Amino acid sequence: MNEEQRKGTSIDILAERDKKEKDYSKYFEHVYQPPNLKQAKKRGKEEVKYNHDFHIDEKYRNMGKGKTFLIKTYGCQMNAHDTEVMAGILGALGYTPIDDINQADVILINTCAIRENAENKVFSEIGNLKHLKKEKPETVIGVCGCMSQEESVVNKILKSFQNVDMIFGTHNIHRLPEILEEAYLSKAMVVEVWSKEGDVIENLPKVREGNIKAWVNIMYGCDKFCTYCIVPFTRGKERSRRPHDIIEEVRDLARQGYQEITLLGQNVNSYGKDIDDLEYGLGDLLEDISKIDIPRVRFTTSHPWDFTDHMIDVIAEGGNIVPHIHLPVQSGNDAVLKIMGRKYTRESYLDLVARIKAKIPNVALTTDIIVGYPNETEEQFEETLTLYDEVEFEHAYTYIYSQRDGTPAAKMKDNVPLDVKKERLQRLNKKVSYYSEKALQQYDGEVVKVLCEGTSKKDDNVLAGYTERNKLVNFEGPKSAIGKIVEVQVDEAKQYSLNGTYLRESESNMVTV
Ligand code: 5AD
Ligand code: SF4
Repeated sequence: MNEEQRKGTSIDILAERDKKEKDYSKYFEHVYQPPNLKQAKKRGKEEVKYNHDFHIDEKYRNMGKGKTFLIKTYGCQMNAHDTEVMAGILGALGYTPIDDINQADVILINTCAIRENAENKVFSEIGNLKHLKKEKPETVIGVCGCMSQEESVVNKILKSFQNVDMIFGTHNIHRLPEILEEAYLSKAMVVEVWSKEGDVIENLPKVREGNIKAWVNIMYGCDKFCTYCIVPFTRGKERSRRPHDIIEEVRDLARQGYQEITLLGQNVNSYGKDIDDLEYGLGDLLEDISKIDIPRVRFTTSHPWDFTDHMIDVIAEGGNIVPHIHLPVQSGNDAVLKIMGRKYTRESYLDLVARIKAKIPNVALTTDIIVGYPNETEEQFEETLTLYDEVEFEHAYTYIYSQRDGTPAAKMKDNVPLDVKKERLQRLNKKVSYYSEKALQQYDGEVVKVLCEGTSKKDDNVLAGYTERNKLVNFEGPKSAIGKIVEVQVDEAKQYSLNGTYLRESESNMVTV
């Protein structure tokens, strides 16, 4: 959707609110509905447009001169990368970054909606900023990211958080200059949230965090509609970037000396399916990127349903695609998987794992798991535990199911008490720790290749980085190792990391173990 089309739609929130006013309903007459599965699934088939003409109008260029900004980021890598784009736009407007929130002239809270506790953290953060706004009323406070795409959240902010100056969503961060200007000019809260995703905008400025590792978006949105998940609503329909644009970005990162990139998407396996004029999928993209001289390439996240043999073959080739696959399973029980809408069974997941392990014997598999799905029985939960034993994941992110309004699962009655869910999570986490430790033990005494990212968080004399298979290694060595792939002798395997000693710079980027 281009700017002209956008203006013609009645589904945007474009509300300005007098802060004294109490009736907010009129601002929502023409806005998007709360998440609604039937409506969302009828997503328009209209073609996605690719916009290469983004530019910042001259009149905004000095907006931030002499002013500072700080962005607080919650949630996933997609949000972290959106923050880099917003930092790029703010930089182009003349703002400079600052670490001290009390000194910042513009504060943006980039929010996550995936679980209730993520949202609660954000509300308490916004609440904490009330006194700052009182002391420094000229500070501009903005809320953006996934939570802004939820009508209930926008309502709550309008009603209870007078200290917020602007709210914008995930589809219009490129309009930050205009939104900011409006916030400066108007005494009212500026709300601009698009319910519909717009064009894919290619040449947005970015200020990446660090110069060693980089995120690269390959697609936006998700069409999978797992029944518990808010993401298809907050991030919109799947839109893949054109291969040429991605490859050019990766080439450019290689030229700048980046050592590792991570290809990002909610479900990267769907990459390319929405581009009608092209028979090109993630396997093809990985193949093309493997020819670029960048030492390490990761990708996340993969849905087990459409993980192809072609992708397995490309990863098995070795080269720069690292043998680490994050493959969220969510549950080990067929009935739960079915109501989650995951489109695979325990058996087909295990079959995929077997195919991956057969072709990539040194693969590190990690996963996401939800416990305490509505009505999950003890036996069903135990199947998650036994699946974990069968696969021996090297790590897992584990969560208690969190009800998200508007998702199909939110309508389900739930007979599992919270303390039972908590107890299941504890049992699962014990297993996760056991296999994580076991995975690390295999490196004891080995030489590993580590991309040294800097000094350890705890000790400035200790260097830290990750192996290809995503194991954290702390080691003593020269500071000149920072930014390079180096060989490290592992002296000790701990519960969550390895300790080692620097040996030398690595000559090749092939895996040793
Ligand atoms: N409740 C708990 N966990 C969730 N996830 C997504 N939605 C929910 C929810 N409503 C988890 C899934 C997903 C990860 C990113 O977050 O495990 O893979
Ligand atoms: Fe959510 Fe991932 Fe399922 Fe998409 S594939 S709905 S992002 S859990």
